[in-house]
Amino acid sequence: MKHFILALAASFAISLSACSQSNKTKENNMEAKTLVAYFSATGTTAEVAKTLATAAGADLYEIQPEQPYTDADLDWTDKQSRSSVEMNDRDFRPAIKGKVEHLDSYGTVYIGFPIWWYTAPTIINTFIEQNYLKGKKIFLFATSGGSNVKKAEKELKSAYPELNIQGSKLLNHPTSEEIKKFAEEGK
Ligand SMILES: Cc1cc2nc3c(=O)[nH]c(=O)nc-3n(C[C@H](O)[C@H](O)[C@H](O)COP(=O)(O)O)c2cc1C
Repeated sequence: MKHFILALAASFAISLSACSQSNKTKENNMEAKTLVAYFSATGTTAEVAKTLATAAGADLYEIQPEQPYTDADLDWTDKQSRSSVEMNDRDFRPAIKGKVEHLDSYGTVYIGFPIWWYTAPTIINTFIEQNYLKGKKIFLFATSGGSNVKKAEKELKSAYPELNIQGSKLLNHPTSEEIKKFAEEGK
């Protein structure tokens, strides 16, 4: 009887381990999806994000501030406007409404934003710090009135050295070829 119980326990242990192996294999084989996450205060980056998501076959996620930005908030000529005050304090983290569902299922994440004061708005820091992105391929993209995205890339890489930020692209009035090429980079 004792032998029988031991044999039963051993076979149970073997089948459990086989089962967990097969789950692991399933996880490894499961094709990781792509996410295009973006913040857009006045709609320009949103349009680009939608086109990119379509080209990449990606899911789309809007990074929404808990308190939306009004026109007065966005007035960069006013030193007291919300965006000026926030961007003057690089440690400030504007709160985000909602969250990304099933973040684990994404292997590549594009993060898009408008350039504010030559860099990424601090809500992008909130997004990065609230979502576990380690191990994922990350690409940045931005729209602007002319400034490029390289300062934002440099600053985000230096703030989050543990992340795999592969590159960045300024997508001001992008052609469909440009979008297609950028979408291919994440594959
Ligand atoms: C607060 C603020 C700061 C900005 N700073 C810059 C800047 O430094 N360089 C630039 O080229 N454009 C700047 N812009 C313009 C935006 O980057 C540009 O209009 C962008 O396409 C807006 O994107 P959105 O419609 O997705 O918010 C700024 C806009 C705002 C509201």
